[in-house]
Order: sequence, then structure tokens, then C-alpha cells
Amino acid sequence: MTEHDLLEVVEIEEASGLSLWGWEAYHSELMQRSDTLMFVARNLNKNNLRSGRIAGFIASRLVADELHVNNVAVRNEFRRLGIGRALLETVIKEGARRGSRHAFLEVRASNRAAQALYGRCGFSGAGLRKNYYSDPREDALVMSREV
Ligand SMILES: CC(C)(COP(=O)(O)OP(=O)(O)OC[C@H]1O[C@@H](n2cnc3c(N)ncnc32)[C@H](O)[C@@H]1OP(=O)(O)O)[C@@H](O)C(=O)NCCC(=O)NCCS
Repeated sequence: MTEHDLLEVVEIEEASGLSLWGWEAYHSELMQRSDTLMFVARNLNKNNLRSGRIAGFIASRLVADELHVNNVAVRNEFRRLGIGRALLETVIKEGARRGSRHAFLEVRASNRAAQALYGRCGFSGAGLRKNYYSDPREDALVMSREV
């Protein structure tokens, strides 16, 4: 992900029902280059050059030997094609390369699609944070895996 991707990243975020970070928050994450892992998925044309719109993105951060996955979202029309999984596997692989030993994330208790994706990627339930989310208020399921 680069600065130039942020308008589309924010558009996907807004369309995906995530807790909104907005342009400024993604921008300031991106600028802390040493400990953030942020990627976009996009089409390549036949010459392997970027083309078309961004299909999805992931934002994560390295904190000591832990990888925290903050946001992952895929445009509605590109879902169930393996893009979310590819994004998640990319940050786990890159996190491992950079010394992560564990990966963590929080997910809304009602977000079954995301929980299924995380389960497919080796995460399992590690706890519950009561009333973690607002608007609407909801518990977070904490999920983790070894890296
Ligand atoms: C969650 C999300 C990122 C998944 O992205 P995706 O690209 O569709 O996921 P993938 O195609 O890589 O799915 C991988 C596996 O996850 C599981 N999965 C993904 N979406 C699912 C759904 N809607 N229902 C059940 N299982 C699902 C399946 O096991 C799937 O493998 P399969 O298609 O071979 O059965 C996408 O639905 C999304 O953007 N949701 C809105 C934003 C969000 O909730 N983000 C997570 C919280 S930060």
C-alpha cells in the first residue's frame, strides 16, 4: 500500500461496514514504515503492470514479537475468490520474516464471514472483549495463532 492507494482503501473501508479509520489514520500508519505491514490486492494487466481498481487491502502492525491484524476488507464483487486469505497469508509470512511469533486480531462477535476466513488461516478463539466495539455496541472475539 502506498499513499496513492488511500482514497480507494478508504472507499473500500466505508463500503465494508468496518469501524472507520479514515484517510488520516491510514496515512499516519503508513508513514510509520518500520512497524506497519499494509498491502493492497489489485489486478495486473498482461504486461504485469498495475491496472484497474484495488480489490482489497490489509492493515497490520508489528508490536515486539506480535503481529496485530487491524483491518482487512475486500470489495463485495471480489469476495470468495481467495483475496482475503492471500492478504492475510501475506502479512503472516512477512511478519514471520520480520520476527513475529504470534498473530492476534479482534473481530465482531457477529462477523461470521471474517471469523471463517481467520479460521481457515489457522486462527482460533483466544478470548472475548466485552463491549469492545461501538456503533453498534458489540463484543469482540479475540483470535490468535502462532506464526
Ligand atoms: C471477511 C472478508 C475480508 C473475506 O474476504 P474474501 O476475499 O471474500 O475471503 P476469501 O475468498 O479469501 O475466503 C477464504 C475462506 O474464508 C471463508 N469465508 C470467507 N468469506 C466467507 C463467508 N461469507 N461465509 C463463510 N465463509 C467465508 C471460507 O472458508 C473461504 O474459503 P472458500 O471460499 O474456499 O470456502 C470479506 O468478506 C470482507 O471484506 N468483509 C467485510 C469487511 C470485514 O468484515 N473485515 C473483517 C473485519 S476487520
